[in-house]
Amino acid sequence: MKNILFAFLAAGAATAFGTLNLLPLPQSAEETGGTWTSSGTTIPEAAIRETRDAAIPAEGYRLTVTSDGVSIVAADDAGAFYARKTLDQLLQIDAKGNKVSVPCVKITDQPAYRWRGVLLDEGRHFFGKETVRRLLDRMADYKFNVFHWHLTEDQGWRLDVPGLPELAKRASLRPRSPALGSTLKKVAPHDYRSSAHNTMPYGPFFYTAADLKEIVAYAAERHIQVVPEIELPGHSRAVLGAYPNLCCFPEQITSRMAGDDWGIFKEVLCVGNDDTIKFLEQVLDYVCEIFPSPVIHIGGDECPRVNWEKCPKCQARMKAEGLTKPGELQTWLTRHVADYLAKKGRRIMGWDEILAGGVVPKTAIGQSWRINAKEGAGTDHVSGASGAENGYDIVMSPHTLTYYSYLQGLAEDPFVRTGGSLPLKKAYTFDPAAGFSDAARKHILGGQCCMWSEYLWNDYDLAWRMWPRAFAMAEILWSAPKNRDFTEFSSRAAVHRKRLIKLGCNCAPLE
Ligand code: ACM
Ligand code: ZN
Repeated sequence: MKNILFAFLAAGAATAFGTLNLLPLPQSAEETGGTWTSSGTTIPEAAIRETRDAAIPAEGYRLTVTSDGVSIVAADDAGAFYARKTLDQLLQIDAKGNKVSVPCVKITDQPAYRWRGVLLDEGRHFFGKETVRRLLDRMADYKFNVFHWHLTEDQGWRLDVPGLPELAKRASLRPRSPALGSTLKKVAPHDYRSSAHNTMPYGPFFYTAADLKEIVAYAAERHIQVVPEIELPGHSRAVLGAYPNLCCFPEQITSRMAGDDWGIFKEVLCVGNDDTIKFLEQVLDYVCEIFPSPVIHIGGDECPRVNWEKCPKCQARMKAEGLTKPGELQTWLTRHVADYLAKKGRRIMGWDEILAGGVVPKTAIGQSWRINAKEGAGTDHVSGASGAENGYDIVMSPHTLTYYSYLQGLAEDPFVRTGGSLPLKKAYTFDPAAGFSDAARKHILGGQCCMWSEYLWNDYDLAWRMWPRAFAMAEILWSAPKNRDFTEFSSRAAVHRKRLIKLGCNCAPLE
């Protein structure tokens, strides 16, 4: 007898979910009775029939398992890849490890959103290739397809740009950073609960061109696009340690390293200085050479303008360009960079601040992180919704719901804090389309969770903060479940937590 498992998505009513424990939920799944079985621990390729059907939506697939074998139909390689990821989750190996079985199912699936991202901040702390590869593996398991790589910050610059040797030498080195995030005894012998600073310099840490290309290729094999982020013109204190002449007032740069504490620095790039423009073009040339991504993220958030108000070069640029407010200087730079990258066939993306005034090209993608343009007041998503109303494509990552570097609200959390609290249950309420008009909705590309690393030092810390919340993000972006049942989701997440731990990936308790 047929057992309809996930019809709730279409019907809008939560029903029985059986034992498939798929995460993210497919759009529809039907258990058809019986199992496919074989000796061994994997499904032999001979048992899988893979075909293409152009009528299936991008990244979507049909997966049918019968006692005779497995059929995968997809329009593209990504769809076939995701069908296999679903198959992996269905696969059961018996206790002795010599028999593999898969329940007979009929699954039809496709993603709700085409941008399903994870941001990793390597500007504050540097994780290195091995951790990044592990992260990409787990992202692929849960059908994420964008790795937003935050590679530059006040506290660290992670690219070795030819012709700019001071970046790798100085900007990748932080005089000191907060004490290790975890208080777990097995990670460290003393009490790390304090956010006091270590006294040791941190770095130099950076990726070579070969490292970056290796990660791009590794991600591509997993159908993940790497979107690099080069912060400009703010969050640039590391650059200014390397090249103080790019600051409006070089005498403000008293240390020739990256920034020390974190926060918002008034020392930003001097937009009036032609050398700044040359520097950025040189960096972006390199970035385009390494990263095939059609989208290049240029940051743009939290840029104080106090220096620009007094700087003769910035004032001269404003006069020459007919700009009246210092904020327009940032827009001028954003437009310049957008045009420069457009000539190379790339599209800019930036934090929602870049959309202010609606005068950057409509090809720009805004990443909505503030809950509104005057952060702190109002309802979620205002900045994203207003950007979309103005015709910009938007990726949603409102910090209150997607910054998984925030604490998880666990009774026992061995990690020091950043910012607010975001328990799993709250994370699961994130809806990228909330607050958007029907017309604006077509501009929502998807969403991201963001792993800011000021208090994350290593693979262990990172995974603890990321999971299980990234299960919620995976499901929100792939399945967009209409009637969410947190209890039901939690029961699947608990199964997947065990799976992660078996794979050597840390995961916080669900509580
Ligand atoms: C941000 O959190 N400043 C993008
Ligand atoms: Zn200046």
